[in-house]
Amino acid sequence: MKKPQNEMKMSFLSLSENERLARVAIGGFVSSKNPRIDELTDLKTAVSEAVTNCIVHAYRDTVGVIEMTARLTDDCVYIKIRDRGCGIEDVKKAMEPLYTTLPDEERSGLGFSVMESFTDSIAVKSRLGYGTTVVMTKKLRSKI
Ligand SMILES: Nc1ncnc2c1ncn2[C@@H]1O[C@H](COP(=O)(O)OP(=O)(O)OP(=O)(O)O)[C@@H](O)[C@H]1O
Ligand SMILES: [Mg+2]
Repeated sequence: MKKPQNEMKMSFLSLSENERLARVAIGGFVSSKNPRIDELTDLKTAVSEAVTNCIVHAYRDTVGVIEMTARLTDDCVYIKIRDRGCGIEDVKKAMEPLYTTLPDEERSGLGFSVMESFTDSIAVKSRLGYGTTVVMTKKLRSKI
């Protein structure tokens, strides 16, 4: 990654209202780049899916800390979302479209697919019992 021009780090509890906080925060963070509306919507949606996963899966029936780090370069945003929750046993399988461990709660198993299609890259690292880190990058083709 090129040298960051700006960087932010925040942490918040895994409460459902903080999904909105994360969306607003990432929107505010990239606003200096004048992103297009569709880019902004894609980024917020991807962040929202990653944060929701921390809330509903990682810290299921508990409340824990979610950390979001973001960096901006000339034309790219890097976002890392990390939890110290239950972890994922098989990341490859978890990322398959329609795979969900909560089918009875009307989860559709599409969160990772959404993150993948709304960003340019996604990498997921997880260790059972220790937590999960999702890193996404997206190019911003700013308006003039
Ligand atoms: N942060 C996380 N910690 C633990 N498990 C996770 C985490 N993120 C995802 N998972 C696991 O990966 C599976 C797939 O996640 P994905 O977001 O694609 O679907 P979902 O959350 O089940 O459904 P949807 O996102 O469509 O509501 C989840 O069902 C869950 O088992
Ligand atoms: Mg999900």
